[in-house]
Amino acid sequence: MGIIFKSRDIIDINDFSKEELLFILKTARKFDPEYVKKDRSNYTIAQGKIAALLFFEPSTRTEQSFKSAAQKIGMGIIGFDDPEATSIHKGESFSDTIRIMNSYADVLIMRHPESGAAGKAADVADIPVINAGDGANQHPTQTMLDLYTMMKEAGPPSREAGRLDGITVALMGDLKYGRTVHALSIALSHFKVKQIFISHPSLAMPAEFLQILDKRGVKYEQLDQMPSDLQADFLYQTRVQKERFKNLSEYKKIKDKFVLDASFKKFLDRGVKLMHALPRVNEIDPSLDAHPNAIYFAQARNGLYIREALLALVLGRI
Ligand code: CP
Repeated sequence: MGIIFKSRDIIDINDFSKEELLFILKTARKFDPEYVKKDRSNYTIAQGKIAALLFFEPSTRTEQSFKSAAQKIGMGIIGFDDPEATSIHKGESFSDTIRIMNSYADVLIMRHPESGAAGKAADVADIPVINAGDGANQHPTQTMLDLYTMMKEAGPPSREAGRLDGITVALMGDLKYGRTVHALSIALSHFKVKQIFISHPSLAMPAEFLQILDKRGVKYEQLDQMPSDLQADFLYQTRVQKERFKNLSEYKKIKDKFVLDASFKKFLDRGVKLMHALPRVNEIDPSLDAHPNAIYFAQARNGLYIREALLALVLGRI
């Protein structure tokens, strides 16, 4: 039986096998101008289909790249990013809102502050639901674009599927609250990737994720500061998530301990590629942005190709 994505919900990165992840990454290349050298402005594979974007929480990259991706493959878009400007303001329930949007669209793309909200939407909807981030829980399309970026940047195009095997990825900053690093660590565990966790002890990778890595025989290290001789192919920097701290004085004590200042350039010069899901606050000095190994803006752009691929896949148009 082949891999079938038509009508599938994209809720949790753990719902995807290694083979399925590789298939999505391979499909994304069909939309990436680095691999397909032709003008896709008239691309119409999903013409006549409608994407409903339901953003209950702010976003720049995810919302705008999904809008762009949908339109690039010929879809129309509807939706909201200010729930207070909808009938939710009059007391309409979450499930009624989903039911109504379900009847106007072919796919729902939702960001919501509550963990599990995307799964609840999928229980109500009979069209595919794509989780665009549900609280501290999951942001699967971010993980897919992170993997895609690593695969693109880790070696020559000829090495395709096994290209992640053998690399070392360091994850730094807020490893306790960051949904991005949790999901990425688990997704990387499908490959022979060494992981290095760098954080203040109070923001360390939670034990539940380390237990999964242990079960899968993944090699990893835990450090409480950035080593002066960092040996990694990628450093994935994160924002310390102020909004998740109960005690603000604890946040203030920690927030600047893992900031990358201009001196990080020496690691970029040595070939470490710097990633970040963005938005950043102060954790990467803008003087590093122009370095070819500072790849966080290219990473965000890759989100477009992953999202074009996912929309086309769940609609059964590719
Ligand atoms: N990386 C990411 O999800 O960014 P936004 O919150 O701007 O969508």
